[in-house]
Amino acid sequence: MMTSFPITKFESIKTPFYYYDTNLLRQTLQAITDETSKRDNYCVHYAIKANANPKVLQIIKEYGLGIDCVSGGEIELSIKMGFDPQKIVFAGVGKSDWEINLGLENKILCFNVESIPELEVINDLAGQKNTIANIALRINPDVGAHTHANITTGLAENKFGIDMDDMDYVIERTRQMKNVKFIGLHFHIGSQILEMDDFIALCNRINELQTKLFAKQIIVDHINVGGGLGIDYKHPNRNCIPDFNSYFSTFHKHLKLQNNQTLHFELGRAVVAQCGTLISRVLYVKQGHQKQFAILDAGMTDLIRPALYQAYHKIKNLSSVEPKEKYDVVGPICESSDVFGKAVDLNKVHRGDLIAIRSTGAYGETMASQYNCRPLPESYTSDELS
Ligand code: LLP
Repeated sequence: MMTSFPITKFESIKTPFYYYDTNLLRQTLQAITDETSKRDNYCVHYAIKANANPKVLQIIKEYGLGIDCVSGGEIELSIKMGFDPQKIVFAGVGKSDWEINLGLENKILCFNVESIPELEVINDLAGQKNTIANIALRINPDVGAHTHANITTGLAENKFGIDMDDMDYVIERTRQMKNVKFIGLHFHIGSQILEMDDFIALCNRINELQTKLFAKQIIVDHINVGGGLGIDYKHPNRNCIPDFNSYFSTFHKHLKLQNNQTLHFELGRAVVAQCGTLISRVLYVKQGHQKQFAILDAGMTDLIRPALYQAYHKIKNLSSVEPKEKYDVVGPICESSDVFGKAVDLNKVHRGDLIAIRSTGAYGETMASQYNCRPLPESYTSDELS
């Protein structure tokens, strides 16, 4: 299934804006549902940080997914959108008191706890409300992932999670606390991971930990393996739906679950990245001495991934079929890193051409800013423009 763009409709819309292909989103969600419904103990919590657009969330909700939140704002939005609090998990190294209270008041499924001081605060706040907070300990499995250094999280040097060596002590502390209930173990090794071997390494590590815990008669109800499944940024048409079969089968094959344990996933990018495209207009074509620039009306305020991670996004000129030329595709912001791609082959570019920046459904709109007093980008779905 290939995203097709309603170019005539685009012509009359103010750029830049995000365009969401809802058919593709639905097919992606269906693919996830097909895989997870094969096993009754699998539960996917969509990582709302990837895309929190209400139009997108509305569709995700139809498929019954839970939500993975990392802030009070995300919890508020999820609840407002009608997601079941009993399917909300809440992670993050720095949860504020009001955010913890919000989670407690809404009786969310689980707090993914990253340190002892945090555990103590949750225990206190839950005590004040005379309630018990379900908690999972986020363990840093010291498993490297083959991805960009800024988005790998499972190594001992990262700020995330509790060291494996400290696990026994933390579990002991947890069990002494009256207002927290230790229900699970949580892991997350990074993002944009395409090598199933990385997830196999995670499974092996979890198996080792579970064996040790089992020897002490500790069995938790739930194992949460985080998110991280990557997508094909180079070929958004050919591989528009990630290989969920390989992903879920990897866990099925390599992770040894105890009886009655549920397995939780926190997928973000894999759910929404390919359905989103940033649509922009060419303001100017500028001839430099060495190269030519296509200057767009979209910038790093609309999509920061290329500037922040040197991320690749496929770029296409939707308005021209003339022979290709090379362009540095840049935004209007006063920062040298405001570049979407260097030496990009595009059909000959003219002022006013519509440019599509693909695979931007994840960490695009959610990371947009108002730097330079720019307005936030608008969004349209294929349903709205059909
Ligand atoms: N669970 C936890 C604990 C996480 O930290 C993350 C992402 C996820 C789940 C979802 O990961 P995903 O399935 O989307 O890979 N802004 C970066 C990505 C940051 C990811 C942060 N954590 C980017 O644009 O590539």
